[in-house]
Amino acid sequence: MSSDNSDQREFWSDAAGPKWVQMQAQMDQLMQPVLDGVWIRAGLTQGQRVLDVGSGTGASTLQAADQVAPDGHVTGADISDTMTTLARKRAGGRPDVSLILADVAHHPFQPDSFDAVVSRFGVMFFADAAGAFANIRAAMVPGARITFAAWAAIPDNPFFTTPAQVAKSLVGAPPRPDPDAPGPFAFRDAGRVTDILNAAGFTDICIDTAHTALDGGSDPAGLAQTMCRIGPAEAALRYAQAGADMQKAVEQALSKAVGIFSTPDGLRIPASVHYVTALA
Ligand SMILES: C[S@@+](CC[C@H](N)C(=O)[O-])C[C@H]1O[C@@H](n2cnc3c(N)ncnc32)[C@H](O)[C@@H]1O
Repeated sequence: MSSDNSDQREFWSDAAGPKWVQMQAQMDQLMQPVLDGVWIRAGLTQGQRVLDVGSGTGASTLQAADQVAPDGHVTGADISDTMTTLARKRAGGRPDVSLILADVAHHPFQPDSFDAVVSRFGVMFFADAAGAFANIRAAMVPGARITFAAWAAIPDNPFFTTPAQVAKSLVGAPPRPDPDAPGPFAFRDAGRVTDILNAAGFTDICIDTAHTALDGGSDPAGLAQTMCRIGPAEAALRYAQAGADMQKAVEQALSKAVGIFSTPDGLRIPASVHYVTALA
């Protein structure tokens, strides 16, 4: 792990980023229920200046801008050039949105320049989490609220466990990554999140662990393909140096496995998410 987040810059720009760019529509649909949970808790209001941390391909930044319009402004900050390029394209030059390529852990934000900070799954990737949150807090007006979503317990998140199990049964498992290292589950322990935010100087920390459901659309094969391009199935296939046939076999098995998430409204994948709020 690099202390300057350069490994994350590389990962999100060159490895995962291009896939997120290609799958932007599916990923936006899949994760929208989590974003709705962020908006309920953030309570953004007209005229606010908002920072969106780890803004990715821009869905959250654009939705936040609609909420603070007509005289608010949203800055989306992300370390990935590929994802930021798409986010800028989607923003189409609207004047109430800025999309900056930045490591939020170290970026020299103007002090007291944000009335609110939001993030969906963009804050679990810092080498020095307390340092990163202290940098974010310094950019906030005293008393301003940060609201973010982070994945909770691994076993409660079949978006990760189902592809991991299916891939393991067919190609074996790669070495287990350290779940406390920067990555999707680095914030699964609510106590650790509280400690990090306390160390960064935040107060009134509240963690609401909610059960929700990701919107997997209505095509199991499409969902299986998405799951094979990012996350644990992708890692297992890459580690096994699987060829096209094996990739297809995993996709087909996963397509069957996700059938258990079928509902009259489409594929709904249970998820457990920490919604965290705190004051600067
Ligand atoms: C799981 S993706 C989520 C993207 C977006 N928030 C969404 O929900 O669609 C994590 C995002 O955090 C960004 N990220 C990771 N470390 C970062 C850092 N130090 N500074 C800014 N962005 C970072 C990645 O580039 C990536 O876009």
